[in-house]
Formats: sequence, structure tokens, C-alpha cells
Amino acid sequence: MKNFFSVEDVDNVSDLIKEAIHLKKNPFLFQDIGKNKTIGLVFFNTSLRTRISCQKAAFNLGCHTWVLDIHKDSWKIEMSDGVVMEKTQEHFKEAISVMSLYCDILAIRTFPNLLDRNYDYKEVLFKKILTYSQVPVVNMESATLHPLQSLADVMTIAELRPYSTKQKCKVVLSWAPHIKPLPHSVANSFSQWVSQIEEIDFTITCPKKYDLYEKFSKGVNITYHQNEAFLNADFIYAKNWSSYIDYGKVLCRDSDWMITEKKMRLTNQAKFMHCLPIRRNIVVEDAVLDSQYSIVLRQAENRIYAAQIIFLKILQSLS
Ligand code: CP
Repeated sequence: MKNFFSVEDVDNVSDLIKEAIHLKKNPFLFQDIGKNKTIGLVFFNTSLRTRISCQKAAFNLGCHTWVLDIHKDSWKIEMSDGVVMEKTQEHFKEAISVMSLYCDILAIRTFPNLLDRNYDYKEVLFKKILTYSQVPVVNMESATLHPLQSLADVMTIAELRPYSTKQKCKVVLSWAPHIKPLPHSVANSFSQWVSQIEEIDFTITCPKKYDLYEKFSKGVNITYHQNEAFLNADFIYAKNWSSYIDYGKVLCRDSDWMITEKKMRLTNQAKFMHCLPIRRNIVVEDAVLDSQYSIVLRQAENRIYAAQIIFLKILQSLS
């Protein structure tokens, strides 16, 4: 693997999940591969899980890491080209190029502006990073995708799904309310990754005007009726996203979309999933999040092995 930007960089998703589960059982199996190797972790947006799970993943592979939180630890970075830099000290181009000289893998989290859909969906910043970096790049969340989260999510489903040769496992991605406009990256990526898995019957439920970009939801069952979607579901993945059609806007704050105990009773004792962080009693009721069906901590734990398998693939391609 040269770079990891999306599921399109993966040869076979099912095989990758099996390898990640194997690493979880044997986390130090490849602890020599990272000797004298450094992974740089760069955050243009805040993080708890991604930052620490990637550090732990690198440690398991014997790699050194450095972390840079751009807004706290660095010069003010200029993102635009052709600007007279009166208010910013360092240009993105030099910053990325220089940071890539200080590591063997550069993992980066960027962000969407949620104002200009064309700019965000063209992944302008990430494409520049891929151009300026002199080492392989890992996407720790970009304007439109969060592939390390999704790999952890499909790994979690694989660990816990009910096995049946007759029936596919039903996975539902449900939009849920939020007070702020949020990116589409988790929803887009989850839809992309889940759609690669034969044994999954996948449905998205959201209010009208919240349909995801069709590239990421092509061929997926979509319903605007949440209760209908929940019937017989094995996994409910809750996530808020802002509108794609009316780009970046919050068009619905209807608390009827919150995930409740009552709605979960419509399901096949479904497991409850969320990428975290989560706003309790806005996105989901306490009773659901604190129930035995909530698997959000397992998802968070699996972030380590999702990152580890990707770093391992890249390190193997370097040697
Ligand atoms: N799920 C996730 O990416 O969490 P952080 O934003 O804390 O990294």
C-alpha cells in the first residue's frame, strides 16, 4: 500500500478485516518492523480517539511517533495559494513538505469548510498533501472521508455479527439530531466500506434533503422513515451529518430522530454503534448508550487495530 486515502486503496476489504482481527489477538506480532521508523501525526482539527489510537498502533509496531496539533503547536498556516501572507507565517506547501522530511509515514487529519461543496468534495487540501509529501500519507479524516473509523466499524461488525448462511446481517445507518453542522465523512466512509461486504444488507435512514452524495450511497436502500428502517436491524449506527443538497446546513433539529430505547425495541436486539464523541440525549438516549447493546467502546478500541493494519501494510511496502 503506497498511501491510504480511502477504501479504494484496499485490495480486499474482507481480507483486511480478518488481518486486523488477527492483529488484535497478536498486537506485537510485527513489533520489529517499525525499528528506526517514525510516523508523524498532524492534526488540523481536534481529536481524542484518532490521535491516541494511532500512537498506540505505531507503538505496537515498534515505531516512534511525533504529534503536531497545528492550531496549538505551530505557526499560523496559510492554506490558499497566491496570497500575500500578511496574516500567516507559513504556507501549507512548505509545512507539508518539511513535516514529511521528519517521518517515514505522514498521517494527517484535515477538515471540510462546509461552505463550498465543490472545494470539499474535490478534496483539494488532501490532494495537495499527497502532492507535497515525500513519504506515504494516511488519511486520519479528510473533508469527506474517515476511512480509519470505517475500518474499525466494519471490523467491529465482523466480530459481533450473527452468523447465518441463510440471511444477511442488517446494518442501518441512521441520521440523528445535533445542534451544529457536522461533516459527512463518517457517514460517507461507512457507506462505502459496508457496501463492499457481501454478507451485509445495508440501509440508510435520514430526513428528506439529508441524502448523502450518490457516489457514496449508490445502490444502498434509503428510507426517510426511521421506524421502518429499524425493523429487524442487527446493527444501528447513529450519526449526524449536515445536508449535502443544501450544503453544510442544519435543516432538521427534530428530536423525534433521536435514538431511543423504544425505537431499539423494533430491532433484532440490535447493537448500537457511534464513532464518538457523542452528545447524550440529543443523538441518543442515555438508556441506549449505557445498555448492554452499546458497542461504542469496542469500536473505539478497534481504532487501534484499524490504524495498525494500515501502518503495517505501508511499512511492509517500504521494506
Ligand atoms: N471518532 C473519532 O474520529 O474521534 P476523534 O475525533 O476523537 O479522533
